[in-house]
Amino acid sequence: MADFIKNPVVELPERNPAPAVPASELHFTEAEKARIAEYVKSYPTADGAIMRALWLAQEKFSFLPPEVIKLTAEEVGIPYAQAYGVATFYTQYYKKKMGTHVLDVCTCFSCQVCGGYDMLHYLENKLGIHKGETTEDGQFTIQEVECLGACGSAPMLQVTNGPYVHNLTTDKVDALIDALREGKSWPFESVTLPQDEDEMGGNRRTDVSATETYQTPPVSETIR
Ligand code: FES
Repeated sequence: MADFIKNPVVELPERNPAPAVPASELHFTEAEKARIAEYVKSYPTADGAIMRALWLAQEKFSFLPPEVIKLTAEEVGIPYAQAYGVATFYTQYYKKKMGTHVLDVCTCFSCQVCGGYDMLHYLENKLGIHKGETTEDGQFTIQEVECLGACGSAPMLQVTNGPYVHNLTTDKVDALIDALREGKSWPFESVTLPQDEDEMGGNRRTDVSATETYQTPPVSETIR
């Protein structure tokens, strides 16, 4: 237990960091307030609107430091603690300043058994950062995330709350980083899953000759 506490699996945000948004900029415009009021009206109770309001706040401020979560909670009319709980539960809400591209690598069960940790460690080594960190040039942040609902095309990652990159291989990771460095976005890809694995010799992936299996322990230690 002691080791677990010393090395938390998920790093919690600082409780009382110095404000990241200057007081003079910490407000919603009248138009933004009106949108939040519309959100609130569309739910039976105000707390139903907090996810959309936090999303609006993230688009405005680019991330959600505590003072922004508090401002949003006040605008929605719910306790700060409740909004904080929502914002810190979802990796899609950024609690600190992120890189231009946020690479959310899924290591939940399906992705894990199909090589999700191999992909995470490959990406960490390639970019020279650990999960949770941002490259010096501010281009890339890596996050380790829970299931993103694309288990059938595991292992996968998501780019900045946008396109999914399915059936990851190291070549695909290389192509993704090259594309993002060149200012290209990753195209939306519709993945059709095979209906009968037996027809595919037990390999449900269509882009490699064999399904990769779990090779790397689920601890981000390879470049420590
Ligand atoms: S386990 Fe990775 S998308 Fe579901």
